[in-house]
Amino acid sequence: MRYLVTGGAGFIGSNFVRFLFNKYGSDAQVVNLDKLTYAGIRENLAEYEGQPNYRFLQGDIADPAAVEEAYRGVDGSGVDVVVNFAAETHVDRSLMEAGTFIQTDVHGVLVLLEEARKHAPSLRRFIQISTDEVYGSIDSGSFSETDPLNPRNPYSASKAGGDRMAYAYAQTYGLPVIVTRASNNFGPWQYPEKLIPLFVTNAMDDQSLPLYGDGRNVRDWLYVEDHCAAVDFLIEHGTNSETYNIGGGNELENREITHKILELTGKPESLIKPVGDRQGHDRRYSLDTTKLEKMGFKNERDFDSALEKTVRWYKENEAWWRAIKERSAEYKAFYEKQYAGR
Ligand code: NAD
Ligand code: DAU
Repeated sequence: MRYLVTGGAGFIGSNFVRFLFNKYGSDAQVVNLDKLTYAGIRENLAEYEGQPNYRFLQGDIADPAAVEEAYRGVDGSGVDVVVNFAAETHVDRSLMEAGTFIQTDVHGVLVLLEEARKHAPSLRRFIQISTDEVYGSIDSGSFSETDPLNPRNPYSASKAGGDRMAYAYAQTYGLPVIVTRASNNFGPWQYPEKLIPLFVTNAMDDQSLPLYGDGRNVRDWLYVEDHCAAVDFLIEHGTNSETYNIGGGNELENREITHKILELTGKPESLIKPVGDRQGHDRRYSLDTTKLEKMGFKNERDFDSALEKTVRWYKENEAWWRAIKERSAEYKAFYEKQYAGR
């Protein structure tokens, strides 16, 4: 199969490319189109550089020329499947500056879809990676795929725009689109601005863990390899024009996960630092995943072993996250000011 993976230098995208090569070997051809924003790290997939079935292209999904080139594939013969992971992804950053979120997460999706129209007869799938955040917050019960969207922050509103644009192109032009909405991923290669890698690496350095608000917001944690497996499953078994929730089945309050991280890193609870709350902080995300389960898909990893494996990865890959933390000084200053003041 010939894949165009966008955002493949980021966390989930790089895990997905690795998943494809591990599963399909040289039967998978992958073009990785990535702008290399602050979150994109080409070296995440260094082991595949120079292989005849892998091509890295630095470019913007909102740039029609870059996208046209990417659709040519590894060897100019085209692609069968597009998986769009490329996005601005961090909620706190969307509170700082929302314009780039609209440019990439909405307009970028439109450019990818327009190019898909030109390849419609041969394109097998266009997977738009959306998020559970598009449903908004839910105090009890779980969202199913038919529930209305109610995004509550600039990131999730932008993702909802891309999600519905992809659906609109399926309805209007008959493109083979599938939309997936996953819950909070964790695992290796996650940028250390998100809760789990930030807290693990801070704890390793005896730095405080800034827990927002009362620490009781709930997220449903999904191990990244299970997410990759679900996307691969849907490429094979999904139905065009359908939307699928992908959840971890591991709902935890932030303070619970913080305690687990402290246990795994062997650090004291005194590192927890309650700070002000995130503006518009969604209280709880929860997905009903019956649709995917009924098709026969099941997550492989249990949460505790996946978290332990993840913490081990950060312990064994200090050079990777230290280099990132060193060059994120500007964001760190913004973030600390933002939360100290509340
Ligand atoms: P990430 O921030 O780690 O990586 C995003 C990647 O996209 C980076 O490599 C970046 O350089 C690239 N990118 C950004 N703008 C681009 C552009 N205009 N053109 C080309 N490349 C661009 O993100 P992630 O956590 O791996 O998330 C991947 C996707 O999964 C996103 O669409 C996100 O909304 C979705 N998602 C993430 C989670 C999660 O918990 N991380 C959960 C559900 C859905
Ligand atoms: O639900 C899926 C979404 O999960 C994805 O679509 C997003 O791309 C991804 O960033 C993630 O969004 P969250 O806002 O849920 O993730 P984050 O890791 O930023 O925060 C998780 C929870 O932890 C949230 O309730 C806020 C809280 N938090 C986060 C940080 C960074 C803290 O208490 N302290 C922190 O320093």
